[in-house]
Amino acid sequence: MPDSRQALAPAAHAALRPSEYTAALIQVLRADADRIRDMSVLEIGSGSGVVLAALGALGAASLCGVDIEDEAIASSSLLLGDLGHGGIAELHRGDMWLPVAGRRFDLIGANLPHFPMGPAEIAGRLPTWSAGGADGRRLLDVFLAGLAEHLAPGGRAVITHNAFVDLGRTRELLARSGLSLRIALTTLVYIAPEKLARMTADVLRAEDGRTIHRYGPYTFGDMHIVEIESARVGAGAAV
Ligand SMILES: C[S@@+](CC[C@H](N)C(=O)[O-])C[C@H]1O[C@@H](n2cnc3c(N)ncnc32)[C@H](O)[C@@H]1O
Repeated sequence: MPDSRQALAPAAHAALRPSEYTAALIQVLRADADRIRDMSVLEIGSGSGVVLAALGALGAASLCGVDIEDEAIASSSLLLGDLGHGGIAELHRGDMWLPVAGRRFDLIGANLPHFPMGPAEIAGRLPTWSAGGADGRRLLDVFLAGLAEHLAPGGRAVITHNAFVDLGRTRELLARSGLSLRIALTTLVYIAPEKLARMTADVLRAEDGRTIHRYGPYTFGDMHIVEIESARVGAGAAV
């Protein structure tokens, strides 16, 4: 049977390909499968739909995806249908929390655009893929501000978080909502030269040699997968 994702324009399909961030997020989710089975799941910025697909394979009860790009919704819909998760999937084109206003979920995942730079097409990606504004926090802060009101009691979020995008600030914002964070994984991600060239100069200056590691023409950045839950639940584990 032909892969129905062929129905997507090849360029759109390629632009939504998973990244090292996607892989690390899935790695952490897979390591905790017992906390996914039968859960209601939301992903903000679902892209290709592959993170939702992984959550479906781990036994989530329902899968909800939100993305700003039409192609992402089409891709997620086709992928989840192909893999037999169409019956439990719901996909919305829209901005961040707007399509799920008033709703709560057991698990919320996000691999948001949060690279410190203005909108730019990098390596065949859409301009909405990576760019997080000058400090990288344009979408991250909106996500953090809305998180508590979308988590079901006992719920948690698992997100990607560049180490060079002020984890302390994230911790502070979460504390205001009664949430705390734990670093579940730290890994290195490759930063392509064209991306590094667009990185906000102040951030690069401050983080070079700290969370950004350069070896001649090759550059890597530290990236965390962060788990967020009620400060009370995470009291012993917050980093
Ligand atoms: C880094 S990609 C991650 C995609 C996918 N989750 C993955 O890990 O492969 C970020 C995604 O967020 C989406 N996005 C950007 N701005 C958004 C917004 N304001 N609201 C919802 N999604 C947005 C992009 O279209 C893109 O699919």
